[in-house]
Amino acid sequence: MRDPVDVQAVRRHFAFPTLGRIATNNAASTQPPRELVALYQSLAPGYENVHRGQSSASQEMTALFEESYDTIARFVGASGRDGIALYRNTTEAINAVMYSLLTEFREGDNVVTTTMEHNSNYVPWYAMCREILPRLGRRVDYRLARFDPHTGELDLDHLASLIDARTKLVCCTGASNFLGTRTPLRAVRALADASGYLQPTGERRSYLLVDAAQLVPGSFVDVRALDVDYLAFSFHKMLAPFGVGVLYGKPHLLAAALPFLYGGDMIAEGRVFPDRVDYNRLPWKYAAGTPNILGAVVSAQALRLLLDLALSPDRPAYFGTAEPIERSTVRAGMNRVSTWNRQLTGRALDGLGAIDGITIYGPRDPARRTSLVAFNLAGRDPVGVAEALNRAGIESRAGCHCATLAHHALGLTPPASCRLSFYLYNTPDEVDQAVAAVAAVAAGRPAGLDGPRERVAAR
Ligand code: ALA
Repeated sequence: MRDPVDVQAVRRHFAFPTLGRIATNNAASTQPPRELVALYQSLAPGYENVHRGQSSASQEMTALFEESYDTIARFVGASGRDGIALYRNTTEAINAVMYSLLTEFREGDNVVTTTMEHNSNYVPWYAMCREILPRLGRRVDYRLARFDPHTGELDLDHLASLIDARTKLVCCTGASNFLGTRTPLRAVRALADASGYLQPTGERRSYLLVDAAQLVPGSFVDVRALDVDYLAFSFHKMLAPFGVGVLYGKPHLLAAALPFLYGGDMIAEGRVFPDRVDYNRLPWKYAAGTPNILGAVVSAQALRLLLDLALSPDRPAYFGTAEPIERSTVRAGMNRVSTWNRQLTGRALDGLGAIDGITIYGPRDPARRTSLVAFNLAGRDPVGVAEALNRAGIESRAGCHCATLAHHALGLTPPASCRLSFYLYNTPDEVDQAVAAVAAVAAGRPAGLDGPRERVAAR
């Protein structure tokens, strides 16, 4: 069977393989392709602010910046740029929803989230319910749906039991960054739909917010098909440099809600008076202050390049253009990424599963999870395991991965695990090397040779 991705051609777009690095911490951040680094530099001669100048440079930068919103909207299936707000990362995007909705929560309302969440989709709701609203004299509860500790799957019955006519918002991860589990979003949507909560818009259902930080980078996602109200993700987990995250929101909700940040550019031109301020049209109502202009441009181009790498890595067709991307192209490209990721993850699950004393968290079926595998070795501190892997040239992450509630739910003391995570430039051979290194650590053998940096230095 032909591989879904020409991985050797993909790897030629990246610098990290020249260092001998085995980059398997992709759930934290992915590696930047050379083209995106070069794009940053190529934007320097025309460097200018957006919406804030009459020079040709400012006009051209504005056009590039605004086009980036269109690319992002098309990539996730939004109706247009008016459903897109850019923030620094997923965490900030979720906080933006919390601050936007803060004033809408009524006494006695609740927000339902899960114990599978990254802290960025739990702590804001904790803070809203326990720290912020009580100071305003309002009582709003949060409720936590559990997951099955054996399968790592969200307990939909428990979730259903928590949602009621006072549930304004259901928040869930699209895929757990610790268990890898993909959330059945259609089922969660159906539960949120059935709540009967009366929203200020007149809709009678709970809003649904999805933390898609681990979902969008490796899956075809269509926000309208999923009918999510809000969805957040970050570009640094899908090839782009650090610094830009996306909030998708249904345009009518973004139009009606209060913004999170106030200031310049989010106001209608000239419509600021001592007794009145009018906000700008979407999406600029959500773009207060000079934004991360180059970051936005490069991030949108990262989406184009990701599709190119998946579909034709030797002949990029979308990168560097403003061509509208068809949904069928996004679907085809992202399906290749997810198929490749699934093959790598299945191989890792098979290899790791054969190691004595290992506990692997989350579903065993790679089709039910994203491309990460978290595990513990009996009697071994996960941070020590990750350090031993690093000495063998294998990059991993150990700790609670900010999924602290899930580690506690599994009774892990300390609340920590070691995690390997793959992306479209990883090879089956790298997976095998990672598995062999974990097996060596488990057996108390030296895990490998010198780390990659030492190997480079020794050249
Ligand atoms: N949330 C990212 C991770 O899982 C940073 O590593």
